[in-house]
Amino acid sequence: MTKPRVVVTRKWPAEVESVLKANYDVQLNEQDTAMTAEALQDALRTADAVLSTVTDPITADVLNAEPLRAKFIGNFGVGYNNIDIDAARARGITVTNTPEVLTDCTADLAMTLLLSAARRAGEGERLVRSKSWTGWHPMHMIGAKVTGKTLGLIGMGRIARAVAERAHFGFGMNILFSDPNPPPPEVTARLNARECTTEEVLRDSDFVSLHCPGGEETFHLIDTAELEMMKPGAILINSARGEVVNSEALINALRTGEIAAAGLDVFEGEPQINDGFLDLENVVLLPHLGSATHETRVAMGNRVLANLQDYLAGKTPRDKVV
Ligand code: DGY
Repeated sequence: MTKPRVVVTRKWPAEVESVLKANYDVQLNEQDTAMTAEALQDALRTADAVLSTVTDPITADVLNAEPLRAKFIGNFGVGYNNIDIDAARARGITVTNTPEVLTDCTADLAMTLLLSAARRAGEGERLVRSKSWTGWHPMHMIGAKVTGKTLGLIGMGRIARAVAERAHFGFGMNILFSDPNPPPPEVTARLNARECTTEEVLRDSDFVSLHCPGGEETFHLIDTAELEMMKPGAILINSARGEVVNSEALINALRTGEIAAAGLDVFEGEPQINDGFLDLENVVLLPHLGSATHETRVAMGNRVLANLQDYLAGKTPRDKVV
């Protein structure tokens, strides 16, 4: 029996790639360079399944591939705003993602950003590395206290709830949130979390962490007006998608002191970074590391494989998006 042809767009953990090699006629990406639109289209024409990720813009144009052979796209990631879902639906393509397995690590990373931004960890590290540190003194590098403060979450899905768990039980923080689909009351009761409007979250929080999906609906959800609503000492954390925040507006707010600091793991147009961030001391910049631990990346790969296996067996994959 001929094995299904599978194209994997980026390098994956070795243990998952070996399962792929054993079971499929697989094209791996040893060089790990992002695929061009032409290469993605070619994969859709020649493979039964394409296993993509956030760096692959699978646009309506790419999905116009003729003849279309691949009727399955397994996205490696919980977010899938790199794929034009309406166009995939129109072409009868099944798309899956990888929820749950990355929740803890992404929440850990959001807390890393929050703590680093509050306590000026990046700035302090740069000072030590540049040998400019002149020693301890009472007024040196005063940051913001985290324990007992108010954390506002925009979006209250799995990752936001995991952040709330850490913040509430680990740091005694009060939790506010806004979400068009709020979690069940037992979840919010356990976290003593209060549902608010987004405006209230922005106005009343010491820290605001973004956990909404990317895409048109949330494009520049945080812009000048929203930054102006935040407290002057507030800190903004983005580990969701870069496009949710207008970078120019954020740079301006960080420069003028409209807000105190920010921690960012994602960027508009990444891996390009708006140069305005680079000379600001009050922003922590990380290169999209949310799910970047070995265990999580293996689990994400295995989750894509489980979805692929279900699809090929004629079952509905557990993580079917469309
Ligand atoms: C995710 O899982 O959405 C990560 O941001 C990588 O795409």
